[in-house]
Amino acid sequence: MISPTVMATLGTHLVFFLVIFHDSMATDTLNPNQPLHDGQVIVSAKETFALGFFSPGESKNRYVGIWYHKLSGGQATTVVWVANRRGPLSGTNGSLELNINGTLTINSMMFLPMSTVSLTNPVAQLLDDGNFVIREANSSEFSWQSFDYPTDTFLSGMKLGWNLRIGLNRNLTSWKSKDDPSPGNNVLSIDLERIPQVNLWSGSTKKWRSGPWTGIKFSNLEEQPRTYGLSFGFVNNKDEVYYMFNTTTSTQIMCRSIVDQSGMTKSFVWIESTGTWNNMMNYPMNECQEYSRCGPYGVCDIDVWPICRCLQGFKSKSMQEWPLMNASSGCDRLTTLDCKSSSSDGFMTVTLAALPETSNAMVYTNISQDECRGRCLNNCSCTAYVTANISSAGFGCVIWVTELIDLRMSTHPTQDVFVRLAAADLASISNKASKKSQSKSMVWIIVFSMVALIIPLIYFCSWGKKKMVHKDVRGNGEFELAQLQWSTLMEATHNFAKTNILGKGGFGLVYKGKLAEGSEIAVKRLSRNSTQGIDEFENEVTFIAKLQHRNLVRLLGYCIKEDEKILVYEYMPNGSLDAFLFDKEKGDHLDWQTRFHIIEGIARGLLYLHQDSRLRIIHRDLKASNILLDIEMNPKISDFGLARNFGDRETIIKTRKVVGTYGYMAPEYALDGVFSIKSDVFSFGVLILEIISGQRNRIFLSSPHLYLLGKAWRLWNEGKVLDLLDPLIGNSFSMTQVMRCINIGLLCVQEKPEDRPIMSSVVIMLGNDDAPLLEPKEPGFKAIFSTKHDADLNQNELHTFNDITLTEQTGR
Ligand SMILES: *[C@@H]1O[C@H](CO)[C@@H](O)[C@H](O)[C@H]1NC(C)=O
Ligand SMILES: *[C@@H]1O[C@H](CO)[C@@H](O)[C@H](O)[C@H]1NC(C)=O
Ligand SMILES: *[C@@H]1O[C@H](CO)[C@@H](O)[C@H](O)[C@H]1NC(C)=O
Ligand SMILES: *[C@@H]1O[C@H](CO)[C@@H](O)[C@H](O)[C@H]1NC(C)=O
Ligand SMILES: *[C@@H]1O[C@H](CO)[C@@H](O)[C@H](O)[C@H]1NC(C)=O
Ligand SMILES: *[C@@H]1O[C@H](CO)[C@@H](O)[C@H](O)[C@H]1NC(C)=O
Ligand SMILES: *[C@@H]1O[C@H](CO)[C@@H](O)[C@H](O)[C@H]1NC(C)=O
Ligand SMILES: *[C@@H]1O[C@H](CO)[C@@H](O)[C@H](O)[C@H]1NC(C)=O
Ligand SMILES: *[C@@H]1O[C@H](CO)[C@@H](O)[C@H](O)[C@H]1NC(C)=O
Repeated sequence: MISPTVMATLGTHLVFFLVIFHDSMATDTLNPNQPLHDGQVIVSAKETFALGFFSPGESKNRYVGIWYHKLSGGQATTVVWVANRRGPLSGTNGSLELNINGTLTINSMMFLPMSTVSLTNPVAQLLDDGNFVIREANSSEFSWQSFDYPTDTFLSGMKLGWNLRIGLNRNLTSWKSKDDPSPGNNVLSIDLERIPQVNLWSGSTKKWRSGPWTGIKFSNLEEQPRTYGLSFGFVNNKDEVYYMFNTTTSTQIMCRSIVDQSGMTKSFVWIESTGTWNNMMNYPMNECQEYSRCGPYGVCDIDVWPICRCLQGFKSKSMQEWPLMNASSGCDRLTTLDCKSSSSDGFMTVTLAALPETSNAMVYTNISQDECRGRCLNNCSCTAYVTANISSAGFGCVIWVTELIDLRMSTHPTQDVFVRLAAADLASISNKASKKSQSKSMVWIIVFSMVALIIPLIYFCSWGKKKMVHKDVRGNGEFELAQLQWSTLMEATHNFAKTNILGKGGFGLVYKGKLAEGSEIAVKRLSRNSTQGIDEFENEVTFIAKLQHRNLVRLLGYCIKEDEKILVYEYMPNGSLDAFLFDKEKGDHLDWQTRFHIIEGIARGLLYLHQDSRLRIIHRDLKASNILLDIEMNPKISDFGLARNFGDRETIIKTRKVVGTYGYMAPEYALDGVFSIKSDVFSFGVLILEIISGQRNRIFLSSPHLYLLGKAWRLWNEGKVLDLLDPLIGNSFSMTQVMRCINIGLLCVQEKPEDRPIMSSVVIMLGNDDAPLLEPKEPGFKAIFSTKHDADLNQNELHTFNDITLTEQTGR
């Protein structure tokens, strides 16, 4: 959905698309008895859209669709509508026909519901907004329009939602796959609830909700609109309930939103200067926007860690020591409501980013705040209420009689919700509040030590059983890293049994563990005698605990006991990428889709590190063994032991000590010790090529041509890059996608850092099949073979140590 927020993010990158008026007689209409045959198109007046037959992706099936014409050079690459998504044609003998009574058929088959009104002199026309309409030739009223039957794309002028008079429900449904436009699993729809909102469904599971319309925007979107020639509207009356946006001014912004196969709503804006569709905004935007991420009475806050906590007066339902790690079960009241006399319960004011889920809430439009509160107190099932300005929000009093779900915090929460609590809990909350000011200064002491990294380990210990409290650098929230008991971890790992060993990390063994309450964890036990581990330990604690991204592995807690230093992570059932990639049997399970998914995930994770996270971090040790895979094969970047924070200005750092892993190391770093975000981009490029080829980027000194980068470059120049493809991938891959990935991989490993793309470009290039790609220059691998390194390298002919991380002590 194109949201107000999207436009707010455009900023200076926005380039207006100027409409050019053509005087041509290009036909935009279809008349009865003039069928449109496969191969022919009709083009809208200003050539913005075209309608005709096309085959999506690698498919051979033929569909009738509408696509951007001029922007895509006449190619059906950006399809916005498909007529016969459920009924593809197998041959190229199709024809689209307007019948004399005003109905459309493809090869005489009716493919969509048509108007039952018979027309006398019908004409079908493709309009410049992408709407294909049928009307009487002498009238401007449409008897039928394609905008009433959207597929996966939302365009300016379309309505998402209901025409209640005729029972029309317009929703967006994802394609099954890039090659198959038939209806997939994910649907964006407006559901007719007491307070209507936009919901994103994956099958019968709600993935995201927009929250109610507040008069200017949906409440779950974070920012106020800035319009740039767009206007947004939400209509809710007895005849219609819909959301729409319009491009209004003569300068026209091209934008479209789609619901895609991954279950996200993505908005794209055409950037004229680059000639690409830029992905401006996705929903759900982060983990906290995932529907009911923290369960009933759990509050999600993306800026703190862990992101889930219980509302005050509530406790975690499932586990005590491990606060809301697996949060879906949510929270319970500390004290059950009394309900007997109305004086025994009261209300706590909670300020949230938006209303809790309202689908089962009761709405009263004409009562005062006091009355609203009274109604809640008098009904034992009432859990909360809000009152609001009727004229701006469309409701006066909302009462919840179910558990409160989908509670979200933000930097600037605005929505007051009055949550009902037992008197005992209210009293203890007001006590705590008065003590709070004292404890704040303690918090700050810890904070300073942590951030400055000067804290000696002894300090951790003296903190004893309490939790380590970090203060976010921006000062808008505290987060707690759970400190776990040694005994808990002993139990979870069966006394660090050999059979529980998952692998060897940089500075110690990693064990699988299972907590008493059932959740699985990965436990990294730093080698006892390793002094070098201390830096990495602190690094990991400082950085990773503050980072939140679906493509970064999550640190859950730590434990320190005498000389034991232990880090606890979420458990990744599928282990590390190298184990899959370089193993003939397991590699067989990595089809092209999965590999591409992994490449994209790593790119997003790295983009987050480089640009989006609050810290701005260079990872410095990106490699296949540091990419972990969860149960759904989502990649997660791990091991931040060598990561460096580069802040806003300091974008290049020079070090005398080279750390990292040969094979993934950028030449300027390996040779001169200079690293920047572009050295991570180099490592990422190596990773792409490894993922495609299933081969390690080993360094064979005697035969540089076996070196993966050298091989890729040679094949690229010989025009035989597909030879690079891992034979285990088999035949089901998208050739264009593979070619693009190799191209992007080679761009990332170019010798000069300034030639390599930044990660946001990489993400756009990976994510947009029509994003243009540059021709890569020679990779920076020759330097690796320069004499400077021979002394180190030629001791072993066949070097496999590109999988071993050098530290500041072993490196030079
Ligand atoms: C089009 O060709 C397919 C086979 O290629 C055939 O089955 C179908 O009947 C043909 N349809 C028409 C309308 O000629
Ligand atoms: C219009 O014509 C088509 C094909 O001739 C027919 O299937 C359809 O029922 C007709 N519709 C109306 C409303 O008469
Ligand atoms: C359009 O033409 C039809 C018949 O050709 C006529 O009945 C109708 O009144 C006309 N409508 C307008 C708005 O001129
Ligand atoms: C989407 O629209 C279709 C067609 O109107 C309808 O059958 C389907 O139930 C809708 N799905 C949702 C989730 O609203
Ligand atoms: C969009 O334009 C249509 C037609 O001009 C108008 O009826 C509608 O109110 C507009 N909607 C918004 C949100 O501006
Ligand atoms: C709303 O309440 C006021 C005062 O109680 C009353 O005068 C008014 O008629 C009510 N309006 C409606 C629409 O019920
Ligand atoms: C309390 O709310 C529930 C849920 O809507 C309703 O069924 C019940 O009748 C209400 N009870 C009272 C006393 O109003
Ligand atoms: C309610 O909204 C109207 C119009 O938006 C505004 O004029 C009025 O001051 C608001 N009232 C309150 C109590 O906020
Ligand atoms: C979280 O808990 C739910 C039920 O309590 C369970 O079904 C689910 O598998 C758990 N998820 C994880 C990641 O442990």
